[in-house]
Parts: sequence; C-alpha cells; structure tokens
Amino acid sequence: MNAVSVPSAVLFATWMQDVQARIEGCLQALLPAASGTPTRLHDAMRYAVLGGGKRVRSLLLFAAGEMAGADSSALEIPAAAIEMIHAYSLVHDDLPCMDDDALRRGKPTVHVEFDVATAMLAGDALQAQAMYVLASRRFAADAAAQLEILEVLGQATGSRGMCGGQQIDMDAVGKALTEPELEMMHVHKTGALIRASVLIGVLCGAPVSATERGKLDHYAKCVGLLFQVVDDILDATQDTATLGKTAGKDKKHRKPTYVSLLGLGSARRKAQDLLDEALHSLDQFGPRAQHLRDLARFMTQRSF
Ligand code: IPE
Ligand code: IPE
Ligand code: MG
Ligand code: MG
Ligand code: MG
Repeated sequence: MNAVSVPSAVLFATWMQDVQARIEGCLQALLPAASGTPTRLHDAMRYAVLGGGKRVRSLLLFAAGEMAGADSSALEIPAAAIEMIHAYSLVHDDLPCMDDDALRRGKPTVHVEFDVATAMLAGDALQAQAMYVLASRRFAADAAAQLEILEVLGQATGSRGMCGGQQIDMDAVGKALTEPELEMMHVHKTGALIRASVLIGVLCGAPVSATERGKLDHYAKCVGLLFQVVDDILDATQDTATLGKTAGKDKKHRKPTYVSLLGLGSARRKAQDLLDEALHSLDQFGPRAQHLRDLARFMTQRSF
C-alpha cells in the first residue's frame, strides 16, 4: 500500500505548533515562580510572557538552528531568552510614556493590569532573567559559542539595535521621514532582534561557511524589515479583535509607517519584494531551508 503523503502546509503547521508548545513549557519553567517573593513582580513577568504571542522569533531560531544541525532541545534555551527580551520590549513599548496602549495579546497591558512602576520593573527583570538563563545553561557547542551569542544579543537589543530603534520611533512622531530613514527605524526597532534570532539559531549548530552565513544573514535582514512593514499594514487594515492590540493607533499617534509613507498598495508591494528577496537568499540551501521559507511566507500573510 502506498504511504499517504501529508501536505507540506500541514507538516509546517504541525512543526510550528510543536515549537510553540515547547517554548511555552520552557518559559513556564525558566520564569521565576509566581509564589516567590516579590510575588507581584513575578506575577507581572509571567503575565507578560506566558499564554500569548506568535513566538515568531523562536520559530526562526529553531528553523535556522535545525538547519545548521543544532540539537533541537538545546535551542529551547536561547529561544526562551529571546521571548523574554521580546516580551520586555512590548511591556515598555505599551507604557504611557511610549505608545500608551491598553491592550496586548488580547489582554490588558501590564501597566493597566498591574501599574506603571511594576510594568517598568517587569520589563527590566525580564531582560535580566534572559541574561541569567543564557549565562547559567549550556546550549551551544562550547563557552566561546555561547559568548558570541551573548555578544550578538547585546548588540541587537541595545542602543545600536532595538532600543536605538525605539528612540528613533519616539523622535519621529509627527514627522515625515524619507524611505531610508523609515527603513533605518524599522530595521533597528524590530529587525535587529529578528535578525539576531536567526543568527543565534545558526550559532547553536555546526559551523557554516562565511558565504552561507552571509546568505542566511541577508534572509534574516529581509524578514526583520518585512515583519515591521506587515505590522504597519495590519495596524491600518485589521480590527482590534483580530490583532489583540489596538488597531489604527499608528495614524492616531502620528507615527510614520510604510503605510503613511507609501500608501497601502505600495506598502504591500514592499512586503512582497522583501519576501522575494528573503526567499532568493535561501536558493542554495535546498530542502533543509524549507521551514525558513515557510516562515517568511507566514510572516507576510499573517493577519495578526
Ligand atoms: C509585535 O511583535 C511588536 C513588533 C515588533 C512589531 P509580534 O507581532 O511578534 O508580537 P507577539 O509576540 O506575536 O505578540
Ligand atoms: C514595537 O513596534 C517594537 C518593539 C517593541 C521593539 P510597534 O509599536 O509598532 O509594535 P506594536 O504595534 O505596538 O505591537
Ligand atoms: Mg512602538
Ligand atoms: Mg506599540
Ligand atoms: Mg505596530
């Protein structure tokens, strides 16, 4: 009897669900217990991280790491650390002094559910917990590889990466940026951590050639920018219930976005061009890059 072939879309969806479930379990275990003092802070940290989010950065890290031959159970540690950093960035992004948002992942934001001071501390403590987890567990081939991963992450999240992008975002309110300026903002505030997620996955595996690393890095840069272009489009086109966060807030807060700069049609074409470029970067990798290809398509076609 012929074996029944499972459609590739089903295999990809199953792989995604498996990684998402593993990350959830790992985060449950790696976050401080809610019962430990100070319980209010630990509650807020767990509230910010658990039970929501697409886990796109973890999926990218797993896809890149599995492609590079990494032990998939070891990938859980850096993926969970990146989710903690990402969650911290969302908690701070939602604060009244930044985007002043009341809804995130379909729930009240941390400063609404708790208070502003607790939200600030929960963000700070999540970042510290990520560093603690990375320094206290073994997940890469040796200590040198782990140090390189810390270097990549520190660079991607600090003033020359995500935080720098958030500063550019704050400074840009009410301004008409040029396309290169807007790209600079998006590449930093969102692209840097996504790019680092792919690179860290690769660094957890067997060494790759400089050419291969360059191609994978180009893929990562494209999908990092793509992700924020799509975020801009979704803010302008979806409703709050679908997004799980307040729709239409970029226009309301006079944020320059790909939609405000180019219009919806050209913003969509920009996303498609970035997808094509990302896929092209993977040409030489054959079937082993299939999850990275599927993820790039998922990041383009998502509705929240
Ligand atoms: C939202 O990120 C903030 C941006 C960087 C655009 P995600 O869309 O990945 O948020 P979750 O983790 O799925 O909630
Ligand atoms: C957030 O960008 C980027 C970071 C959190 C670093 P946005 O402000 O566009 O994200 P959303 O739309 O609130 O999720
Ligand atoms: Mg913001
Ligand atoms: Mg925001
Ligand atoms: Mg947004």
